[in-house]
This record gives sequence, structure tokens and C-alpha cells, in this order.
Amino acid sequence: MGNDLIQIANARPPGGAPLELPAGEGLAPSATGIGLGAKTFYIETFGCQMNVHDSEKVAGVLMARGYRPVDSHQAADIILYNTCSIREKAAQKVFSRLGAFRKGSAGAGKIIGVLGCVAQQEGERFFERTPQVSLVCGSASYTQLPELLGQLEAGNRRVTGLSLDTEDCFETELTRRDNLHRAYLTIIEGCDQRCAFCVVPATRGPERSRSGAKIVADCQRLVDGGYTEIQLLGQIVNAWRDPQPAGWSFAELLARVAEIPGLRRLRFTTSHPRYFTSEIVAAIDSHPVLCNQIHLPVQSGSTPVLARMRRGHTREEYLEKINCIRGSQRAISLSTDIIVGFCGESERDFEETLSLLAQVEYDQVFAFKFSPRPNTDGLGFQDTIPEEEKSRRLTALLELQRQIQLRRNQALLGQVMEVLVEGYQPRLGQAVGRTTTNRVLNFPGEPADIGCYMKVQVTAVGPNSLVGSRVLEQGDGALECSGGLTGGQYGS
Ligand code: 5AD
Repeated sequence: MGNDLIQIANARPPGGAPLELPAGEGLAPSATGIGLGAKTFYIETFGCQMNVHDSEKVAGVLMARGYRPVDSHQAADIILYNTCSIREKAAQKVFSRLGAFRKGSAGAGKIIGVLGCVAQQEGERFFERTPQVSLVCGSASYTQLPELLGQLEAGNRRVTGLSLDTEDCFETELTRRDNLHRAYLTIIEGCDQRCAFCVVPATRGPERSRSGAKIVADCQRLVDGGYTEIQLLGQIVNAWRDPQPAGWSFAELLARVAEIPGLRRLRFTTSHPRYFTSEIVAAIDSHPVLCNQIHLPVQSGSTPVLARMRRGHTREEYLEKINCIRGSQRAISLSTDIIVGFCGESERDFEETLSLLAQVEYDQVFAFKFSPRPNTDGLGFQDTIPEEEKSRRLTALLELQRQIQLRRNQALLGQVMEVLVEGYQPRLGQAVGRTTTNRVLNFPGEPADIGCYMKVQVTAVGPNSLVGSRVLEQGDGALECSGGLTGGQYGS
């Protein structure tokens, strides 16, 4: 395998397309021309999908410099934590990890770096609080990562990349892809909204859209490399606007990517209701490759709370978007994010949120207790809702949603659905499939099914997943399988 990859590297036209490497594969140091020997790195990622994909790109940057990925921090020369600060609990995780290196020799001789949103938020304070850290870099400065690593290699003890003042996107020559079936691709970085609860504009910098032509070329390369599913990413993915003179809208971009021959599934996340247009629904209607799934965070069902959150839409405006989606020719599955206990949320406001859930009938809801964050306007508001009350509201909301999901899933009993098999559970002898609506559908299968598209009939349901059995069709000998770079060979 290693040799194949070197050939890929050699086959690359000068200044040409970036490389894609599956997880666990590295370029041999000799293939890079940078003689760093067998130095190793380990990255642990917290938080959102954007972070997961940023880590794939950071891994690519390190591999292009001759570093080799390893599975544990004990085995690594460089240890990186890609952090999340969306809520206080998430932000604390990195400090507990770093605590392990405070005393004794666990971190001796190693480079320890902090990336991502907590890095941006805490900046050089990391060096005082956790002196074992030598690299602090926020995502808006990842374009400088090779230079920062160079400084560390040259013997610098402490380096930072903390500027938010950038118009650049993080482009890499090499990306290590950790998901063998679904390729992630960032199309827009940063965020210009000022939602009162959200730390992201302060940690990820201003919005920067990548060019439409580059995105389509990247997707084409991913499909050529064997991926059949692509997920386009952005903090607000549908705020994407083509910076090139062609000036495509987001819906046009979706259509262009969906038209790439060989692509079977196209998803995008996360959409903001303010930028959600009927053209996006029209693109889904006319391109079967676009999955029956939209994640559209509402945060609250109460218009006064939405106004305090500075979301830029009312409950009614949001429901109009939902109506438009429900008017699609396809049964589009909807999911959302909710914050309970935002500053000043009354019992009545909360009930408005419950009634919105009952009205929309989402297939999945991600709900969180409000957590005041630094550098947000919400920090200045009084956090009036006691913790126990936030917990009570969260529990009540999740219970209502559990019933909704169970009911909706029960309506699927007997239906035959196409799944992409993403995993295998040896203990249960079950293949783990995913439907176009992003539901998990388990069925008796085998490891060799991973990466294949199969038809499965739903035989039992729970609130969070479905169980089924495979439907064999004529001509099923020629199953279509997917797999980045190695064409569906995983798990066999
Ligand atoms: N407290 C609680 N939840 C938050 N989110 C964002 N900021 C906060 C916060 N301060 C939630 C929102 C967002 C999701 C990614 O995290 O629901 O959509």
C-alpha cells in the first residue's frame, strides 16, 4: 500500500491536485523529500464535523512533512488536541487531557500543541496555565501551520498562530481521510453572524468562501478516488457565495456537484434558516444524488427568545422554510439544534419550543442547555435560568422528541430502503447501514458489506435506529460498492 501511495505522489502533476490518503496511511518520509526520519504524531479531535475535517487536513500537513500518524499519545513525538469551545464542558476537556502531562515525564521530549476554538479563545494564556504546551493555533491561522511547525523544528520553544485577520481558506496539498466512505469538504470557513450565544465568530474568524470551480474540482477528484458520498461543510454552509466572477449561488453549487458522474450521495451541513432558499429545495427535487436530509437549527420556538439570540428570523419565518421543505416531491428528513434555558427563557417560551417540535416533527434533535461563553453578547445578559431548571426542560424536550421519533420510525415498518453500509458489529453479526435520510439501519450482514449500497427492508424500529433484513434483487451479484482510494475493499 505504501508503495502505491508513493506512486500516486510521483504521478501528481507539478502544482497539481492535492492528494488524498486514507486513515492510517502515511507517505514514507523519503517520498516527501523532507528528511525528518520517523517522527510521529497523534491528534485527538473534539467537537463539530468541521473540527474533524480540519484534523484530517492538519494530519495531511504533518504527513507532507514526513511525520507518521500513530494511534496513541504515548507513541507520538507531536501530540495535538483540536479543541471545541462551543459549550463550557467541551472547552474543559482539553485541560483535563493536558493535566496528564503536567507532572512526571509523560510529556518529556514531546511537542504538545493545542489547535481549534479553545486555542483561539485562550491564546498565549495556555503557556502560563499549561507550560507543557508549545504550539497554540486557531483555525483561522491554519494556513500558517507549516511555517509554525518549521519554527518548532528549528528549535523554537513556543509558537502561536492566533490572527483572525485572514481572507484565506485552509488549503492543503494532502488530506488524510479518516472516513472511508464519506468524504468531507469544507466550502466556507468562519462565520459573520453574531448569534448572542455563539462563540464561533470569535474563534473561527470571518466568513471565507472557497471558489466554486475549486470545490467542483475537489469533488471530482474525490469521486475519481472512489468516494461515492460527499458532505459539504461550513459553519453556515448555505451562506456560501462563489467569490469567483461566475458567482454561483449555493443551490447552483449543489447542482454542479450533484451532476458529477459516479457520485451517489451529496449532503451539506449546517444550514442557517436566514439563508435557506426555495432554490435549495428545487435543487434537491431535481438531483436524486442530493440526500433526503436537511439539518436546519432553530434554537428556540419562541420569537422573543429568537430575537434575544439575534438569530435574524422569527418562529413564523422559520416555519415558512419548513413548509417549503415539506412541499418537496421527496420525503426530506429534518433535524435541528435547540438550546434550552437561554437567558430569560420563560416557561411559556419553552412551551413554544415544545409546540414547534410537535408541529415540525423532526427526525432528529440535538438539544443543549445554554452555556454562557466568552466573547459573546449573551455573556452580558443575565443567565437567569437555574441549572436544575435547564436540566428539567432538557429532559422534557428529549422525552417529547423520543415519542415523535418512535412514531415517525414506526411509519417506516415494511419499507425497503437503500443503505450505504458504514460499519459492522461483530458481536451482533450486524451490518450498520445509513439511509439517505441519515437514519441508522442495522441488518444481519458481514464485514465485506462495508462500503456497499444495499436494499434493506425495515422489520423493527426504535426511536433512534431501525432494524431490517436485506432484500436480494435480481442482478445483486454486481453490487455497487464505495470506498475512498481502494474501492470498497474495507473490512474484508
Ligand atoms: N450554549 C449551549 N448550546 C450552544 N450551542 C452553540 N452555542 C451554545 C451555547 N453557548 C449549540 C447550538 C448550535 C450547536 C452546534 O451548539 O444549538 O447550533
